Parts: sequence; C-alpha cells; structure tokens
Amino acid sequence: NAPSLIFFAGSAREDSVNKKIARVAARMAEAAGADATFIDLRDYPMPLYDGDLESRDGLPEAAVELKALFRDSDGLFVASPEYNSSLPPLLKNTIDWVSRRASADEPPLVAYKGKVAAIAAGSPGGLGGLRGLVPLRMLLGNLGMHVVPQQLAISGAATAFDDDGQLMEPDRKAALEGVVKQFVETAQALKPG
Ligand code: FNR
Repeated sequence: NAPSLIFFAGSAREDSVNKKIARVAARMAEAAGADATFIDLRDYPMPLYDGDLESRDGLPEAAVELKALFRDSDGLFVASPEYNSSLPPLLKNTIDWVSRRASADEPPLVAYKGKVAAIAAGSPGGLGGLRGLVPLRMLLGNLGMHVVPQQLAISGAATAFDDDGQLMEPDRKAALEGVVKQFVETAQALKPG
C-alpha cells in the first residue's frame, strides 16, 4: 500500500536547481517505499489566471490534467525558488488554476484537501530561498494540506549537485532524506484504506 507522491519544482527552466531537488527527493522517496513521480511544470503550460478567460473557456487543459493527477495522489513535494522573498508566479498561477472547480458538483480543492505536502527550496544565494518557504507553507496549509514540519533550503545550490544529480554534501543529503522520510511516513499514515 505504497503512497503515490508527486514531485515538482516551481521553476520551468531546464537547468533549475529546484528541479534537481525535486528529482533527487523523488529517488529518495522511492527508496523509502513510495510510488514517486517527478513532473515538470513546463509540460503543463497555462495562461495567467483571468476570471473572464475562465468564464469563457473553463479551465485550461493542463490545469484539468494536473488536478486529476494531484487528486489521485496522496501528496505533493514542492521544491521552489524564492522570487523577491515570495512564490514564483509560475507556481502560484499553477496552484491557483488547479484550485478552481470545473463544475458545481466537484468538491472544493480536490487536488489539495487532506493530502500531505513537503516543501524545499534551492537558490544560488546564501539563504537558499528560505524566506519563500514561509508563504509556500502558509498557502498549502490554507488549501487544506498537511505540510510536514521538516523542510530544507539549499544555499549555494548551483554547485551543490554532482553530474548524476546527487547532493554532494553528506549533511545536506541526510537533511533532505529526513524531509522525504517524514513526507512518506505521513502520507502512509494518512492514506485512506
Ligand atoms: C530571484 N532569485 C532569488 N534568490 C534568492 O535567494 N532570493 C530571492 O529573493 C530571489 N529573488 C529572485 C527574483 C527573481 C525575479 C528571479 C528571476 C530570481 C534567484 C533565484 O534563486 C535563482 O534564479 C534560482 O536559480 C532560481 O531557481 P531555479 O530556476 O534554479 O530552480
């Protein structure tokens, strides 16, 4: 009864350090017994949220797909850059579209409510994007997610990974493993059935 967990980054760019964090965290979760899937938000392009667009066309196809994926999972691991001490617009826009209901008979916040979340950040700078984790934790909690208390911000992230995508410093690797372990165990404990 392995929990099914989704891993993604709040950055689209190819060489994103946050994608590296999400990818290596997914491998750690597999090792801890979860069914882990890495997804790339670049594969789910959406326009900037606009209520008139929504009234006219409904949700973008990518938001419908992502919502189904999140709904069928037990939890989300989000590794995100900090932009000026807050969330990057890609991440906020994606979370916002996915929070919208496709119809009145769809339960509210099906993608998020009651599921587990874990958060991490990476930045080339000295704080590792730590300040951005504050609004991210608040946002996911307000969407009804159980955000595990453990989190990690990786400073100097541009040089923290080897060519195989592994974290080179043992202490940091262990810290990320700790976050992932708590994430997997919480998802296991809360998994229905
Ligand atoms: C940044 N960056 C940044 N870094 C940081 O540590 N604190 C910050 O407040 C900001 N602010 C910020 C604003 C904007 C608009 C950009 C584009 C960038 C730098 C950021 O951490 C860096 O570009 C990371 O490499 C982005 O993450 P990915 O794309 O590598 O995952």
